[in-house]
Amino acid sequence: MRSLGLISNAKSTLVHTPAWQRLLVHHNDMKSVKMMDLFSENPDRFDQFSLSFENMLLDYSKNIITDYTLDHLFYLARKQKVREFRDAMFRGEKINNTEGRAVLHTALRNRSGRPIMVDGKDVMPGILHELEKMRVFTGKVRSGEWKGYTGKPITDIVNIGIGGSDLGPNMVCRALTPYADRLRVHFVSNVDGTQIENRLMDLDAETTIFIIASKTFTTQETITNANTARKWFLADPAISEKDIARHFVAISTNSEAVEAFGIDLSNMFEFWDWVGGRYSLWSAIGLSIALYVGMDRFIEMLEGAEAMDKHFQNEPMETNMPMILALIGIWYGNFFGAESSAVLPYDHHLRLLPAYLEQADMESNGKSVDRDGLQTTYSTGKVIWGTEGINGQHAFYQLLHQGTRLIPTDFIASVRSHSCLKEHCDILASNFIAQTEALMRGRNENETRLQLRNAGVELDEIEKHIPHMTFQGNQPSNSIVLDQLTPRSLGSLLALYEHKIFVQGAIWNLNSYDQWGVELGKKLASNILNEIKSGRTLYQHDASTDGLLDWFREKRKEG
Ligand code: F6P
Repeated sequence: MRSLGLISNAKSTLVHTPAWQRLLVHHNDMKSVKMMDLFSENPDRFDQFSLSFENMLLDYSKNIITDYTLDHLFYLARKQKVREFRDAMFRGEKINNTEGRAVLHTALRNRSGRPIMVDGKDVMPGILHELEKMRVFTGKVRSGEWKGYTGKPITDIVNIGIGGSDLGPNMVCRALTPYADRLRVHFVSNVDGTQIENRLMDLDAETTIFIIASKTFTTQETITNANTARKWFLADPAISEKDIARHFVAISTNSEAVEAFGIDLSNMFEFWDWVGGRYSLWSAIGLSIALYVGMDRFIEMLEGAEAMDKHFQNEPMETNMPMILALIGIWYGNFFGAESSAVLPYDHHLRLLPAYLEQADMESNGKSVDRDGLQTTYSTGKVIWGTEGINGQHAFYQLLHQGTRLIPTDFIASVRSHSCLKEHCDILASNFIAQTEALMRGRNENETRLQLRNAGVELDEIEKHIPHMTFQGNQPSNSIVLDQLTPRSLGSLLALYEHKIFVQGAIWNLNSYDQWGVELGKKLASNILNEIKSGRTLYQHDASTDGLLDWFREKRKEG
């Protein structure tokens, strides 16, 4: 296993390797290639560059790639020992080298009964124990057996968490709304008091359970919101501290902090330091999901993810979906200079997927030092962004179609919608397909001229319009098509992205499982909080920071 490097300011030599250099040369041959020509030359291109997994289709034929491109990318992956590194992760080796931790979110969905060892101990019994505890708890709450302090059954669940302790469960709950049957589930993440105030306004303390979800149980936003929720709960004189046990549960790796907060440890669901926050929805962090759709559905989601894990482990690179997606991303990011990549779900239930993937991808691979402590001299994680596709069409697609940047896109859709409005489903599907076609095809001058002529536009007007109405095209996209969004297919889709992120991190030789970059801001915010509260300047800042601080203090004094 690669170790923690000691050299500072030294540079990675990845870009000088033959594998990288081959890709640079190949890029020179490919940079002016038009995808439309590749399709004209090869009638089998769709068959050749698409894969299926269970009922999921990945069409990656609308990319600026040939067989050679993939061969060169596979060579890079072999040279970077991606498969060996993957196997080390699944074995439970401590590939998070800066924190000395294993990376085992895959163990959370290991349904095979196979032991997985960390520090000589099988982690599976602990995982199964927590799953059973979740089953018992969710069963009681969902059936109404678990009563609030006045004896009424629970109607509302509020998950208080942030980052990985919010984005994953929130996104999955929205995605699986068609499977929700009993409880309302809400999410509070922002320390902006407006969010929790608005949420609490509609809730009844008698019938609400708060889940305090925090791996560390020290996250300022979460603890502040949790304290506010507790104060709100205890505001009624009829409620006493002992009633907290019926209304507050915790999910954490930090039992001391949970106890100190006042939550009984019998109401604590455990997970482990080898589960990264942004990879934790498969653990008890998914409790809100299990309450919302039931434990059986939660397990189906784990099974879908496990199926993708097996695919990732066992398929050769040529037919391995996460590998292909990752390598195509590397091709654009490192050789075409693409700065960002958009995720565009054509499924209202997946509307939070882009936000979830922002954290999953950018917190994992937004790094400029490799796992050996060497400066990267190549781009790493791209900016990930997006929104529901159909809404994006009427907002930012202009830039995708006619802007100056290359922005590779992932289009995601389901063949069978959960909506029974057929007309809507057909329109959605047609837009999903048409957009990938339009991005690739573009529209040349002659086509534009013809269209304007057919529309009866005057000849001199036509020539004025042409530059504005032609589209260069050749914008790449992947299309991921699910049969239907189910717990199982969602599990597979999310694991696909997790492994894509893994492969890219392995190629760039990053530690994708730490997040030191978020620490400094937290530290400085804590200093500034002291200064805001005390009204005194306690730390040295630059003129801008001092100016902002003074502005806040002055304006607050003015009331
Ligand atoms: O600040 C970033 C981060 O540490 C994320 O990695 C994590 O998902 C989030 O904060 C929340 O952390 P916790 O679950 O410990 O409250």
